[in-house]
Amino acid sequence: MLLPFILFLTTVIASPLQTPLNTEYEILSPYSSHRSISPRVFIVTMFEPEESAWTKHMNYVHHFVVPGLSPLHPQVHCTADYQICHFTTGEGEINAANSMMSILLNPKFNLRDTFWLLNGIGGGTPTEVTTGSVTFAKYAIQVGLQYQIDPKELTGYPDWPTGYFSYGAKDPWGYPDSVYGTEVFELNENLRDRAIAAGKRVEQSLDIGNDENIALRNQFPAPGNAKPFVKGCDVLTSDNYWIGETFDNYFIEYSKLITNGSATYCSAAQEENATLEAILRLSKFGYVNYERVIVMRAISNFVKAPEGFNDPVDFFHNYPKGGIELSLNNLYKVGIEVVKDILDNYDEVCALKASNYLGDIFGTLGGVRDFGKDKYTVH
Ligand SMILES: *[C@@H]1O[C@H](CO)[C@@H](O)[C@H](O)[C@H]1NC(C)=O
Ligand SMILES: *[C@@H]1O[C@H](CO)[C@@H](O)[C@H](O)[C@H]1NC(C)=O
Repeated sequence: MLLPFILFLTTVIASPLQTPLNTEYEILSPYSSHRSISPRVFIVTMFEPEESAWTKHMNYVHHFVVPGLSPLHPQVHCTADYQICHFTTGEGEINAANSMMSILLNPKFNLRDTFWLLNGIGGGTPTEVTTGSVTFAKYAIQVGLQYQIDPKELTGYPDWPTGYFSYGAKDPWGYPDSVYGTEVFELNENLRDRAIAAGKRVEQSLDIGNDENIALRNQFPAPGNAKPFVKGCDVLTSDNYWIGETFDNYFIEYSKLITNGSATYCSAAQEENATLEAILRLSKFGYVNYERVIVMRAISNFVKAPEGFNDPVDFFHNYPKGGIELSLNNLYKVGIEVVKDILDNYDEVCALKASNYLGDIFGTLGGVRDFGKDKYTVH
């Protein structure tokens, strides 16, 4: 890996007049002469396999480099009529936030009316979903923003579920008293429900995976042992890729705590809160419409091993993790139905106003929050 990197650096340094990105594609900078691009749907994925799950089916003919995107995914792709565009953020919260902000602030895009399909694969809790299931969230909850003490040092606290506890709280059951503002995002439930209905139309044809995937599912009680299905339930964000029953149980409780009993977590991933924070900040100024965001996650693996499987490391490394391939297939299968529904019934979908609270724990977009406290300790 080192050698090509050195060669790349040499090329850049040796030819300062050349664009540092070795690309044939136009760069959408404030100085480019390209006309304004205003897609009806923006598809956002997080890493290469998710992008390919779409690009192998889609006919993207326009490709642009957008300054500020991940070096691994510098391009935006659009269809011939520019009704659908697509980019990939890069994985984790830092990549997701920076990439999304770069798209939103690029003056060549007009995104005021655009619908967003944030979609990827994620871990799933077998008490809510199974591998290959496709989920649509109303809440995105950032579970990594907490204190943590290694449980090995918590010998005097045998009843603590994990080493996590909220900022400003005294123990794992305390409500956070100090927040950063990105802990919870609530999305347009009416739009979410319409996306679920679109997905349900293809539920019977979802990929069920291979024999190993089915055998693993059969080791869990329902609904873990079911055929893949489409469901509305909520997503967790954490840069830390955790697994295991202890964290699963704790985050089930934590997601209820921080949303005042509203959220039911079923998928775990590393980006939504970051992406949503960028959208929320610029929605406040009308650059983009937060009411038009859909969050979809297909389940690629179970977040915990089945009963009786006692070595989590062995489970993580050696056991069939569920089915990344079927989750990617189902991501596209369901996702394209949602995209078609938006394009084919555009006026109807545009009219779907939210009847629930929209936004973050600070109330940045106005309205009455159904989670969070009136006051926090602000630092
Ligand atoms: C993102 O998700 C995490 C949990 O995974 C949550 O705590 C956080 O509030 C969410 N929102 C943002 C903007 O990160
Ligand atoms: C959520 O729960 C906290 C802690 O019990 C409480 O202080 C707050 O008022 C509740 N928020 C709403 C909107 O009910």
